[in-house]
Amino acid sequence: MAINLAVFASGAGSNAQKIIDYFKGNSNVQVRLIVCNNAEAGVLGIALHEKITSLLIERGRFFKEDSYLPVLKNYEIDWIILAGFLWKIPAKMIAAYPQKIINIHPALLPKYGGKGMYGLHVHRAVLDAGDPESGITIHYVDEQYDHGLTIFQAKCPVAKDDTPDSLAQKIHVLEHKYFPQIIEQVILKKNKP
Ligand code: GRF
Repeated sequence: MAINLAVFASGAGSNAQKIIDYFKGNSNVQVRLIVCNNAEAGVLGIALHEKITSLLIERGRFFKEDSYLPVLKNYEIDWIILAGFLWKIPAKMIAAYPQKIINIHPALLPKYGGKGMYGLHVHRAVLDAGDPESGITIHYVDEQYDHGLTIFQAKCPVAKDDTPDSLAQKIHVLEHKYFPQIIEQVILKKNKP
């Protein structure tokens, strides 16, 4: 019985693509659903190309009604993977998926996390602070932004001439390298008989 992942994304979806590629042909784990809150997002094109069902969600139902939980249940989703998803996860969803929602943040939490800290805002803050290094944090999701138990971190140096864009590129390399394998480690460890 395969373990079904729902990948939540709001943007380009480069992480979603890497996760899809990593589990392609894997009989134990599959990306079953792409969940997105932005009709213009590149990740919807990836879902189409990869023939993976996508679900375009809207604010009202997500935050004030059933949070689309019946849909996730209908697709037998076991794990929720946040790969650049900009909305806060409602408590109802966290309760339905205890320690089964994983997020990736493009900085070394607890620094540079929290509301509004996403994308280039994060890298700009790291550069403004003059930090010698940055990196990624993969963590479980709880009721607060970027706050749950850390699963994994990887670092990269910050060069004097780095810009938010050049630092973002370094971070993307780490994300694409580590996120899929860390997801596999976590879900297979948790699903050991
Ligand atoms: C990544 O930098 C990730 O760390 C952050 O959102 C970004 C998503 O990028 N949570 P992409 O849409 O996967 O290219």
